[in-house]
Amino acid sequence: MTVFVATEENISRAAASLRNGELVAFPTETVYGLGADARNGRSVARIFEIKERPRFNPLIVHVARFEDAAALGEFNRQAEHLAQAFWPGSLSLVLPKRMPSPLAELVSAGLSTVALRIPSHNVAQALLRAAGIPVAAPSANRSGHVSPTTAAHVIADFGPDAFDILDGGSCERGLESTVIGFDGTTPLLLRPGAVTREEIEEVLGSKISCETHTDVAGNPASPGQLASHYAPRAQLRLNARAVEPGEAMLAFGENVPESDGAIINLSPDGDLREAAANLFAALRTLDQTGAKTIAVAPVPEKGLGIAINDRLRRAAA
Ligand code: TXA
Ligand code: MG
Repeated sequence: MTVFVATEENISRAAASLRNGELVAFPTETVYGLGADARNGRSVARIFEIKERPRFNPLIVHVARFEDAAALGEFNRQAEHLAQAFWPGSLSLVLPKRMPSPLAELVSAGLSTVALRIPSHNVAQALLRAAGIPVAAPSANRSGHVSPTTAAHVIADFGPDAFDILDGGSCERGLESTVIGFDGTTPLLLRPGAVTREEIEEVLGSKISCETHTDVAGNPASPGQLASHYAPRAQLRLNARAVEPGEAMLAFGENVPESDGAIINLSPDGDLREAAANLFAALRTLDQTGAKTIAVAPVPEKGLGIAINDRLRRAAA
């Protein structure tokens, strides 16, 4: 098990490993994923085991082409629209599973739906094309921890020997995909992410409701949406305008408070896209300073700021 620079040769090797039932971590434009052949129950089970992921939390299935997605899920008109607008890219669509399904049951954690995504990252694309199979891939972090945006983050969570890692540098978007599900044919925002709500509403031509609460059985609509996700070891203090003694600071924009401790500015220019790309790496770095508390500057609740604040609130929970 090794870290491989994502050359063409190493991508084919990784594709062969996936087909062989092994796990491979790979870069996408959002975060690194930990991939397995989605048809292979044992490989998928290994993902849950190694991440210590609760079995009720289903996985996103990654494919290279729209036809591959349409073979696995039943697209309604709105879903087709969204796929056309955002694929390849940072959007996952939760659709009724097309039956009979080649997918391992565990992928959907017992649900009758499947989450599908076509990533745009060229390494992810090349890997999926070379493998020619649907690849189930959660973020390549231990369950509940911050998502990885570099190969080094993956190693920090699992060590260098757990599985092969394709190193494609740092992830451009830095936040997980936006997850959209449907109530019948009405689209619902299940997880805010790298594609903003405004971008989605523009394509749909209508407002979209946010369904991050619970279903009738009291389960989160998107089972991964539990508080306590994305948690660093340190406590987070949100909306901080000053730094207390002993705190590290996660700043945003030009007004950075005085401090003797570690400070990382997500974006000195107040650019939300840049802030999103830096968020998880910054949380990991500040966590490693050993500070008990990370003071977090307010981030505007608009555009990508909605997903950034979602992750910060979960990290603070
Ligand atoms: O950007 C991403 O989405 C990354 C990269 C690797 O693609 N993947 C990722 O996977 O973030 P994960 O497992 O960390 O998050 C998947 C989310 C979870 O909140 C999960 O509950 C939800 O998608 N999900 C998956 N399948 C679902 C389904 N059938 N119904 C509802 N939610 C689903
Ligand atoms: Mg995750």
